[in-house]
Amino acid sequence: MKASFMLLLAPLVVSAAPALDSRQAAQSVDKLFKAKGKEYFGTCTDQGRLTSGKNAAIIEANFGQVTPENSMKWASINPSKGTYNWGQADYLVNWATQRNKTIRGHTFVWHSQLASWVNSISDRNTLTQAIQNHITTVMTRYKGKIHHYDVINEMFNEDGSLRSSVFSRVLGEDFVGIAFRAARAADPSAKLYINDYNLDSPNAAKVTRGMVDHVKKWLAAGIPIDGIGTQGHLQSGGGNGLAQAIKTLAASGVKEVAVTELDIQNSNTNDYVAVTRGCLEEPKCVGITVWGVRDPDSWRPQGNPLLFDSNFNPKANYNAIVQLLSQ
Ligand code: XIL
Repeated sequence: MKASFMLLLAPLVVSAAPALDSRQAAQSVDKLFKAKGKEYFGTCTDQGRLTSGKNAAIIEANFGQVTPENSMKWASINPSKGTYNWGQADYLVNWATQRNKTIRGHTFVWHSQLASWVNSISDRNTLTQAIQNHITTVMTRYKGKIHHYDVINEMFNEDGSLRSSVFSRVLGEDFVGIAFRAARAADPSAKLYINDYNLDSPNAAKVTRGMVDHVKKWLAAGIPIDGIGTQGHLQSGGGNGLAQAIKTLAASGVKEVAVTELDIQNSNTNDYVAVTRGCLEEPKCVGITVWGVRDPDSWRPQGNPLLFDSNFNPKANYNAIVQLLSQ
């Protein structure tokens, strides 16, 4: 009698085990952010991370969006003309789609981590075709699976002028229209972004004369830019400035803005709270992506800039975001 009672009880005991998310961190910042009307709270990752430590478990439980940290950059995915290395990007896209995570494609036109065969092009037609082919090939492969794209990355100088790169030297400003039009044609459902760093205070020349003035002009010319991404590689005390700058960027006339690569060196909890609140309070801000899961894996690990510590435990910064979003 007693034994059969225990047998009946066994399935109940199993299903009452704590859910995965409660074992990883108190609560999912992604679920809480969505409950406030936002689209996602995400992180960057790639195959190497997803197959090591607790990264996959944490991302599965606590984040709703992923950006490939390196695998979709031009030098990685298309290192020589006509050659594509799909393995790592495919891994990330499959991992995310199987788990209902949205994906941010990163990135097409960027002077850094650029394939050397592109960097040495010196005539307009060849470079135009290289940009068009590259964007069309990647976006066609992942059509319908990647929701946001950083079409152009880091194209402005601190004074708001155009950075010197193969793209600006050969094509002037025309590479902007070439890239965004190719992207719109390849996957009309994807949201197309221009992304940059040091957009961290509303009065910075890079924000006003750089991003905002140029985007206004390009939108008026019919270039299909949907959003502005602010990377958010901050120092301690930088949270409020970025929160204010989000409003200035949104007022440029784009449909949406996002914090795309957030990490805060020597952050106190106020900084992460300020950035999260800044996105909450700007209706056009769709989401926040942090640039990595745990501190030692950050691209700039000094000052422990992320939300999880070296043992994959959620830090005070994580819990402060949870607290803000639980109010
Ligand atoms: C960084 C990656 O995190 C590193 O692993 C890599 O070695 C260099 O690039 N701006 C960007 C990101 O848009 O792609 C960069 O990522 C960080 C700065």
